Formats: sequence, C-alpha cells, structure tokens
Amino acid sequence: MPTSLMFFTLISCLLALGQASLPLVINTWSFKNATAAAWAVLQSGGSVLDAVEAGCDCCQKEQCDGSVGYGGSPDESGETTLDAMIMNGNTMEVGAVADLRRIKNAIGVARAVMERTEHTMLVAESATVFAENMGFIAEDLTTVKSLNIFTQWLKGNCQPNYRKNVCPNPSESCPPYKPQGKLGPKKHLPTNIHSHDTIGMIAFDQYGHVAAGTSTNGRTHKVPGRVGDSPIVGAGAYADSSAGAAAATGDGDIMMRFLPSYLAVELMRAGTDPSAACKMAISRIKRHYVGFFGAIICANTTGHYGAACNKVPGFLQFHYMVSNGESDEPLLKSVDCF
Ligand SMILES: *[C@@H]1O[C@H](CO)[C@@H](O)[C@H](O)[C@H]1NC(C)=O
Ligand SMILES: *[C@@H]1O[C@H](CO)[C@@H](O)[C@H](O)[C@H]1NC(C)=O
Repeated sequence: MPTSLMFFTLISCLLALGQASLPLVINTWSFKNATAAAWAVLQSGGSVLDAVEAGCDCCQKEQCDGSVGYGGSPDESGETTLDAMIMNGNTMEVGAVADLRRIKNAIGVARAVMERTEHTMLVAESATVFAENMGFIAEDLTTVKSLNIFTQWLKGNCQPNYRKNVCPNPSESCPPYKPQGKLGPKKHLPTNIHSHDTIGMIAFDQYGHVAAGTSTNGRTHKVPGRVGDSPIVGAGAYADSSAGAAAATGDGDIMMRFLPSYLAVELMRAGTDPSAACKMAISRIKRHYVGFFGAIICANTTGHYGAACNKVPGFLQFHYMVSNGESDEPLLKSVDCF
C-alpha cells in the first residue's frame, strides 16, 4: 500500500472512531447549552442521570424554543403545565410527571418520583403537592408572553384548538363544548412544527451506562389535562444500558401510539444500526399517519448514533446536538427527513 493511502486509511479510521466514542451526550434540536451543561456534568465526574437532569433543566430555565419550561404553550385555560421523565438504563427505573402545575423544574420532580417513591409517574395537582413536599417551590408559570399567546387565541375565537365532534363548532367557537350527536369525518390539524420542540436527551458515560430524559410544556392550546409522549416510557424516551437509548420529539399525540423510542432500542438490541433503527421507528408511524411531524435520535452502547425525521412541508431537515469529545463545543448535526 502506498504511504499516502496508508495515511488516508489511518485518518479515515481515526475519523470513524471519532464519530463513535464514549462518553456521549445527544439531544433533540439545536439546544446547544443543554448539551454543554450535560457534558460538563459528565466531565466533572457526575453520573449519566445527573447529566440528563442538568441538560434538561438548562432548557427548562432557558425556555428552549418556548416549548420547554415555564411561560410557554398555554393550554385552553391559559395555564402552562409540564411533562417530563428520566430513565436509568442500568436499573430500568423511571420517574415521570405529567400535567405538572406551578413547578418549574419538571425533570427534577421526575427524578424525585424515581428516587423517593416506588412509583413511576405522578400527575397534575397531586404531583405538585409531592413536589412541594420534596422541597420544590410552587410558583405561577405564566409569563407576559404566555398570557399574550392566550389572549390572542381568545380574541381569535380560540383557533386553532384540538376539539372535534362537539358543539358549538370548535372551528369557529370557544369552549365550553358539549358532545355532538354524530361523529364526523377524521380531522387532523395542520401541524405547527414550531409548537412542540421537546428536549429529549441521552447520556452515556465511558462505561456505556446510559440514561435518557425529556422535558416539555406540551402543545399550545391543548385541552387541559392533555399529556403528550414526552413523559411516557418508550414513547418520549427509552434507555437500556445493554442495548442503547432513543428519544423522540414532534406530534406526541400521534407518536405515543407507536412507542417509537422503545421500538428503536429493541431494533438496536437486535443489531440494527442506530440510524436505521431511527428510520424504522419513523416508518412505522408513517404507515398510519403519512403527514405526522416527528423526529427521533438513537444511540447504541458503543456510542454510534443517528437520527431520522418524517418529511413534511416546512420540515425537511432535523437538527440535533452531539458531544462526545470530538470537539470542545457541542456539535450541531442534521439529518435529511425522508
Ligand atoms: C446559551 O448560553 C449563553 C452563555 O451563557 C447565553 O449567552 C445564551 O443566551 C444561551 N442561549 C440560549 C438560547 O439561551
Ligand atoms: C453500534 O452501531 C454500529 C454502527 O452500525 C455498529 O458497528 C456497532 O457494532 C453497534 N454496536 C453494538 C454494541 O451493537
């Protein structure tokens, strides 16, 4: 082999190695500060759970895209409510909260559910009481911005909304509604691709121990009580240190019906490449909902990772962040939707 070719091969191998190494932090969307926060925790000897919690909490505090944390996605009554989960891929323990009210740090409460109860998920007002007992501070999650979104919506006759088969006609009128006698044809709202950019995060340490987590404030103008895919195990995220981890984002009402994160992890367990596993999880949903908005990130135990997304108008490429020591800064990655 000529020296130049040998050199080229060596560099290629190094690059290939560089693309898959542990530790690894990967998260949905271009939420770079979250990646950096999680990576810093790993670098200072923190656990993968600490990393995921810190990363998601960073987004909660920065109100990433208005879709994470307080002051975003007001529901039909104007209130912001939060969903979050965290999963330990070594022990398969999970903590989750859904429809959490008046507490900013949803991922922190999720972790408390995992570590300070034998349960997996707490919801709504009772989750708030639990959180307060555990030392979290209750406060109003409404901001000028979320109040503004809400009042504009009221002014516009409460459009859009997620109601169907009710009267008065939900495409013209505000709540309250009553059931309408006859069920009409299937309705699917045009997707607003900017209204549900959940953070989903995966962190591996150098030994291949993995944790995953999510945090979101759900969908703007949701029906009060609505819970999306983010806090649902296997839907919003899944982690198993013997196989890999995945986290999903997008139209949670549809995606949660297919447990895409669980599916992707099981595919990786069977030896499927992470990018292919991500694609197959998206394809499964596509079979039933061609126009759904969604994306997923996948990583296996050797630190190989990938992502996939469903191509719909206005969503041709999905961005996600990676830190694995390849560079000092978290790297912005993208994948073309299919
Ligand atoms: C990320 O962190 C930097 C430095 O602290 C800050 O200036 C910037 O506003 C943050 N980005 C977001 C989106 O909050
Ligand atoms: C992870 O995925 C890569 C790329 O497909 C593959 O080469 C590697 O063997 C996988 N690791 C495991 C533990 O399956």
